[in-house]
Amino acid sequence: MESTRSSETATPHQLIAMLEEREEHTEDLALLASLGLDFLLRYKELRMRYLCAMKEIRTKFEVLSTELGVRNDRNPIAGITTRLKSTTAIAEKLHRHGLEFTLTNIEDHLRDIAGVRVVCSYVDDIYMLAEALCTQKDVTVIQTKDYIRSPKPNGYRSLHLIVSVPVFFADRALDIPVEVQIRTIAMDFWATLEHEMRYKKPTKHSEEIAERLRLCAETIAKTDLEMQSIRKEISSSSRPLTKEEELIRKIQTLDQPFLR
Ligand code: GTP
Ligand code: MG
Repeated sequence: MESTRSSETATPHQLIAMLEEREEHTEDLALLASLGLDFLLRYKELRMRYLCAMKEIRTKFEVLSTELGVRNDRNPIAGITTRLKSTTAIAEKLHRHGLEFTLTNIEDHLRDIAGVRVVCSYVDDIYMLAEALCTQKDVTVIQTKDYIRSPKPNGYRSLHLIVSVPVFFADRALDIPVEVQIRTIAMDFWATLEHEMRYKKPTKHSEEIAERLRLCAETIAKTDLEMQSIRKEISSSSRPLTKEEELIRKIQTLDQPFLR
């Protein structure tokens, strides 16, 4: 290993070359090993900050999930996942934007290092959850991309938010950006499979395949809205519970939300 090579000064091309020199060139470890100790320590510190911001946002959704589960008879949140962008993906994104792999460029140009994905039941839940997050005093909304009202040409649907949240460390507080994706189970089903198909095949999908995928996304979106309307109809047409029935239901479900 060349211990003198500093990646604060290495160009993206050199970094990619470094990756390709190595057998495990897709591994984050291979890239990290070539970066030099000083850079590495500062890079590790930076990743730790994004990791903490990710935890803050995850906790906010977990709190909402617990609260809504207790207040209502259904919990709109089906799942929360988080991911910290891998080093290879950071290097590739900076390279795509013609930027060098430096800490300053990471902080100034990438806002999706920390990612939180919330999967919920119905389309309405997406906007309710987004509102519940964005109106919190310590959350600043940096960007909103509504791929539900305006789906991507390939059919992709989700609500994307970039928010920043203060994180309190031992010696200071820092505002750190986090990408939040909120989508229904149905949107998640499409996005997960589409992603898998795209990454399995390095070449672009044929026009015909792309069109079929887009049609699937449309069918799924229609079904999503239909399921929502069925739910609304059921809740508006069902008779209200008697006091006794309500009491029994509350007793039966008393400790359920806390088990989640
Ligand atoms: P990235 O460079 O990928 O971060 O894109 P961007 O900065 O233009 O942001 P955008 O909000 O469009 O997309 C960010 C993320 O949304 C991606 O990393 C994916 O997780 C997801 N995403 C966006 N478009 C698609 C898509 O067409 N299919 C799938 N499966 N996921 C998508
Ligand atoms: Mg991204």
